[in-house]
Order: sequence, then structure tokens, then C-alpha cells
Amino acid sequence: MNMNPRHFTSLIDLSSEEFRHIIHRAIELKNNRDPNYQPLKGRVLAMIFEKSSTRTRISFEAGMAHFGGSALFLSPRDTQLGRGESMHDSAKVISSMVDCIMLRTDKHETVTTFAQYSRVPVINGLTDKQHPCQLLADMQTYFEFRGDIQGKTVAWIGDGNNMCHSYMQAAKMLDFRLQIASPAQYQPLPEFVGAAGKHVRFFDSALEAAKNADLCVTDVWASMGQEQEQKQRELAFKDYQINAEIMNAANHDALFMHCLPAHRGEEVTSEVIDGSQSVIYAEAENRLHVQKALLEFLLTSV
Ligand code: CP
Ligand code: NVA
Repeated sequence: MNMNPRHFTSLIDLSSEEFRHIIHRAIELKNNRDPNYQPLKGRVLAMIFEKSSTRTRISFEAGMAHFGGSALFLSPRDTQLGRGESMHDSAKVISSMVDCIMLRTDKHETVTTFAQYSRVPVINGLTDKQHPCQLLADMQTYFEFRGDIQGKTVAWIGDGNNMCHSYMQAAKMLDFRLQIASPAQYQPLPEFVGAAGKHVRFFDSALEAAKNADLCVTDVWASMGQEQEQKQRELAFKDYQINAEIMNAANHDALFMHCLPAHRGEEVTSEVIDGSQSVIYAEAENRLHVQKALLEFLLTSV
């Protein structure tokens, strides 16, 4: 057992070189699937979900199975965490029985507290502040379709949310430019703005942000836990939809991505998300490949 496990609570737990290594390894694993390659045989991943999931749960569970290991799905309803057992005790106990822990939690601090007390690697499967696994998949997808993203321009149009924050970190790490357009009251948190520095620029309109973009990205207007704000957010975000006009303002070969689940007709039109520039299904599938590369990296190489 490694007494100083490497965690993945945030993209910045990796170096830029490690980030690129995981992307390239994911592409390799995807293109050369070898059922006999089982580097995690007998290893167990615990997956703690405080929020719903389709892609994150299935990709981690399938990825562990491909690698000869197994995954446990744990919801707060079924564990003592849901009844208030301390994170300190939970992290110590769970990490004494499994080889890795993935958490999807309301508060980012839950993931960092687990990492503090866990004896095994802790992976962030989405928090209120960040969604780093999705960025690994998005970047793998860009590399596959267009090559390295260094020096390219990405437009983030919509909520300054967990996905936006992870894009801001990726912009600095992989050296691309991020052009953000969000309503005034839904801007990303200052701590992420400060850290991203010159890699991020803000625009007043979606159209301005999309100019010269090689990739246009958005996400739902109301994230999990914000459902009661749906109506108010629909009003605030009505000028921040990615539609044909926005894609026409971007470069002619720009890609469109969305982490999914999507609300067609709100943050993106059906025409765009189901159109020829959209790579959403490759992006979703890549969660499997890139998280296999991440698990291999955290559990076998460091
Ligand atoms: N994109 C993403 O994380 O999807 P799920 O919520 O289905 O896991
Ligand atoms: N911003 C969204 C992402 C879902 C994958 C949410 O937090 O609900």
C-alpha cells in the first residue's frame, strides 16, 4: 500500500505532462482494447454518489470490470454517511477495505476531506465546484478530432459552474485560450478566475465569445441541486444559448461539446447538438477510456 496516495480531486492534482500522458494513454486504450490486459485484477473501487449519474457511474464501473477489478455503488441512503457518520471515520474505514474511492458530492470540501484521511487514491466524480473527469474526456475528444489543443480557442457560453471552473484550469494547464460569456450574476468564482490568469477572457455576449473559437461548449443552466431556480435561470440565460448563429460566428471547423445530460431548446438547440459539428457521443464514450487511463495512472504507476 502506498502511504502517500496520489489523488485526483482537481485537474491541478496533475502536472500538465501527466494530463497529456493520460489523454494519449486513453486514446491508446480505446484503439487497442486487449481483454487480457487486466492491471487492476482483484482491485476494488468504491463509488460514493450524493447526486444522480448515468455516465460517471457506468464508465467507472465498466472501466474497473475491463481491467479485471470491480466497483461498489454506494448511495447515502445505503451507508452510514447518509446518517451523519463523520467523513474522517468514513474515509479511514472505507479506504482500509478498497483500493480507490470515487465521490460525487454536493460540497467540494467533502472530496478534499476524504482525500486528507484516505489511504488510497480519491477521485472527484463531480462537486459543486469542479468536474475534472469530464475535462479529461473533453480534452481526449478534442485531441482525437483535431490534435493538441495548445494555442487553440475555446468558447464557454452559459453558467460559470463546476464545468466552467474545470475548463478554466484546463486552459492554463494545456495552454489554450478560454473565452467566457455568462450572465453577470452567474460568473465563475473569483478563485478560479485569478488562478487562470491570461488564459481566460470574459465577453458580454455569446456571439463575441464564439468568435475565432475552435470549440464551443456549454452546460445546463440549472445544475443538480438548483432545480428550484430553473425558471429564474431560464430568464437570466435566454441570450446564452448555443445555436446556429453562434456556431457560425466560431471557426468553420469548430466542434461542439456538452458534458450531458442536455436540455435541448435551452442551452443548445437540437440543430447544433444533433448537427455535424457536435461530438457529444464520442465525448461521453471517452469518459470510459480516459478514466481507465486515470485509474491505471493512480493505481499502478505512482
Ligand atoms: N457528464 C456526466 O458527468 O454525466 P452523469 O451525470 O450522467 O454522470
Ligand atoms: N453542471 C452539471 C454537470 C452535470 C454532469 C451539474 O453539476 O449538474
